[in-house]
Amino acid sequence: MRVLSGIQPTGSLHLGNYLGAIRRWVKMQDEAECIFFLADLHAVTVYNDPAELRANVNGMAAALIACGIDPEKSLVFNHARVPAHPEMAWLLSCTARVGWLNRMTQFKEKSGKNREGASVGLYAYPILQAADVLLYQTTHVPVGEDQKQHLELCRDIATKFNADYGVELFTLPEPWIGESAARIMSLRDGTAKMSKSDPSDMSRINLVDDDDTIAQKIRKAKTDPEPLPDSVDDLAGRPEALNLVTIYAALTDRTPQSVTGEFAGKGFGAFKPALAELLVQTLSPIRARLNDFAADPAALDSILQQGARKAAEMAAPTLEGAYRALGLPRGI
Ligand code: TYM
Repeated sequence: MRVLSGIQPTGSLHLGNYLGAIRRWVKMQDEAECIFFLADLHAVTVYNDPAELRANVNGMAAALIACGIDPEKSLVFNHARVPAHPEMAWLLSCTARVGWLNRMTQFKEKSGKNREGASVGLYAYPILQAADVLLYQTTHVPVGEDQKQHLELCRDIATKFNADYGVELFTLPEPWIGESAARIMSLRDGTAKMSKSDPSDMSRINLVDDDDTIAQKIRKAKTDPEPLPDSVDDLAGRPEALNLVTIYAALTDRTPQSVTGEFAGKGFGAFKPALAELLVQTLSPIRARLNDFAADPAALDSILQQGARKAAEMAAPTLEGAYRALGLPRGI
């Protein structure tokens, strides 16, 4: 079992990233060979200030480690340091079909009305994501719900390449979407996902938020005047309430049903302080570890460099195999 996943190093980590992905990455470290990387080549599909991006790569690496990713157990690197990623992406872009990419909903959402003005990289990015996964013969990819379509595309590309060239080069990866926390929603709108790009900071809990900010964001989170029902099914049509219950359940490793069971009949005046306390308990130790790391950027650079060296070694045989399958002589 080989587990791989990535995250864009833009902005800071939020609760959606943590519950939807990273917490599950941490748990996998003792059960499988794990590879976690910062998708910085993904970040440049839109304009990012170069100095800020550089700082964010280190900042995000520190955040992953603060959340419990152990570079002694897992491979941690940023993919700009491993040229096999964009190289494989080019080879795969010759297998991927334009029609497949045209169906990617994330491109539609991100380009919005400005499709013609979006970068080619933003459009083709899911192919780079497929390269990220396929280079390492990955078997499982733990991600949130929003990445499911990209992983289906990855499987389609792998299947077509293997079939077109009569090889069994690529392993088909399983998208591994968590059950309850697959889609953590905005605190201001229960129908929009919690996201780094939401202009309102009140819509998300950042892992760097201090205790008072967390409490304030939960206090101000949008809800409704009804008490919590005893069955989670009765939260249908109450997306904000369901989201808060989902967060509570994910933080305590319980089902949403068991949370509604406990709080049935109580209003948000009782539920929100309990949730805020739970969040503070979970996030404040992570924040403390993050602050320790911020003081030592050289240590982070060295972790990322070592990770990249190992990653390049691991990726080489699959990249070679792809060139060979295509009939391309390689090297000078
Ligand atoms: P990114 O950086 O947008 O998000 C990182 C991870 O966090 C999950 N996530 C969420 N989960 C639940 N609720 C939310 N509100 C929420 N917001 C984000 C995402 O599903 C993701 O798992 N394209 C990827 C990065 C990537 C990648 C890869 C992932 C690049 N190459 C290869 C897996 C395999 C992305 O932009 O994630």
